[in-house]
Amino acid sequence: MSSAPQPREVILVTAGADDLDDVMSIMKQAFSPDFGEAWTRSQCAGILPMSGVVMMLARGGRGEALGFSLLRTVADEAELLLIGVIPHARRCGIGKALIDHFISHSTTWGATRLHLEVRDGNGAIAMYQLAGFKLAGRRRNYYRGNNGELFDALTLVRASREV
Ligand SMILES: CC(C)(COP(=O)(O)OP(=O)(O)OC[C@H]1O[C@@H](n2cnc3c(N)ncnc32)[C@H](O)[C@@H]1OP(=O)(O)O)[C@@H](O)C(=O)NCCC(=O)NCCS
Repeated sequence: MSSAPQPREVILVTAGADDLDDVMSIMKQAFSPDFGEAWTRSQCAGILPMSGVVMMLARGGRGEALGFSLLRTVADEAELLLIGVIPHARRCGIGKALIDHFISHSTTWGATRLHLEVRDGNGAIAMYQLAGFKLAGRRRNYYRGNNGELFDALTLVRASREV
């Protein structure tokens, strides 16, 4: 029997600097160092106070940290900078809930164009496509894994309201 939590047991809360321990714990579990996608604690702490930046935490029924997202809205553009869910809590809707929040939050704050970068080959691409994101470009050698291997990034975009 799976121990993965059901979506109804998960709440999304706005996170702040006091939550960075939880966020970095998720980051470490969610992202393989092989691909160079994870951010450092100082990168996260540095961007948090910036205008338009929001970090969300998905917490389970006992308050445990299961997932997070980091997004930024500037004028009519919004970017999903990071999203991660710990391995044992995957495929039960937490990623989708964080994407849905990104879309609704960005729209509320006036963004009309939503975008993100994702490593070519990342399973997350299927989730983004389900949420209406479409391929708009490729950045060669954007990510560097811990052994120096380089990976392309795909740029995915979505209008705030799908037509
Ligand atoms: C990508 C990630 C956030 C998805 O989180 P999640 O909570 O498992 O996502 P959800 O359960 O909401 O998935 C919703 C749907 O998206 C699709 N999907 C999600 N992950 C997928 C994967 N790895 N491969 C294929 N489809 C996937 C599925 O259709 C899924 O629905 P289903 O489980 O009913 O089939 C998680 O796998 C993760 O943390 N990955 C490592 C970090 C990362 O690469 N982040 C993205 C780049 S910043």
